[in-house]
Amino acid sequence: MGDYEQFVGSIKRKTGIDLGLYKEAQMKRRLTSLYEKKGYPSFSSFFDALNSNQTMMNEFLDRMTINVSEFYRNGKRWEVLEKKILPRLLKENKRLKVWSAACSTGEEPYTLSMILSAYMPLASVSVQATDLDVDVIQKAKLGLYPERSLAELPEPMKRKYFQQEGAFYKISDDIKRTVTFKKQNLLSDRFESSFDLIVCRNVMIYFTEEAKDELYRKFNAALRPGGVLFVGSTEQIFNPERYGFQVEDTFFYKKV
Ligand SMILES: C[S@@+](CC[C@H](N)C(=O)[O-])C[C@H]1O[C@@H](n2cnc3c(N)ncnc32)[C@H](O)[C@@H]1O
Repeated sequence: MGDYEQFVGSIKRKTGIDLGLYKEAQMKRRLTSLYEKKGYPSFSSFFDALNSNQTMMNEFLDRMTINVSEFYRNGKRWEVLEKKILPRLLKENKRLKVWSAACSTGEEPYTLSMILSAYMPLASVSVQATDLDVDVIQKAKLGLYPERSLAELPEPMKRKYFQQEGAFYKISDDIKRTVTFKKQNLLSDRFESSFDLIVCRNVMIYFTEEAKDELYRKFNAALRPGGVLFVGSTEQIFNPERYGFQVEDTFFYKKV
């Protein structure tokens, strides 16, 4: 077994995270540059160091997960959600069960809440949000963002839901209250069911074809019939019918 394969096995035993389900070339490149920067000669010596140093282990987990996010990322897609998908979902169900899967630092689930608030009082809005990385969940709960995270957000939303604090923008407590954060690994944990909408964007690009295949099936099972999976703008599903979906709009898949 090669150095990298052994490392993957050790990390899985230690953390439960299976790096073998992430695209190998990309992951290997990212982690090689990390251990070289730290001055280790190989994956095995790097694992020994991680095994005995929790701070380094956390840094490693941060590096492998890539947490970049933004409010209203790829705005045109959020407009489709607001103007086309949500009206249809709301016709079928007054209260929507909504999940932001791989939510990173909270920009995505908070964007969802802001958009939903156009259709109902905030007190009725509820969004579940999950991520593998507990550090990003902590940041999400804090709700403090640099200006660049808000660059794509329409000005009225920015004015309504944020307060400037020095170089940062703080999200309003009303929006914060609508989102429940939880740690979850999409590749190994169980999902809830009967969702009207699942938003999972900019994480599946890192997964192998086999991992994606399994995940599409799990998402399909987690949706109610007519429910929608909203994916990232480089994450089109080829053959959605195979997984029980039909295309409702670009990057929106409806459970048949
Ligand atoms: C690039 S961010 C995407 C954030 C947001 N969805 C967006 O599109 O702006 C990817 C997120 O996926 C999370 N992630 C990576 N692997 C995961 C897994 N197996 N289960 C759950 N979350 C995962 C990372 O921790 C990171 O926060």
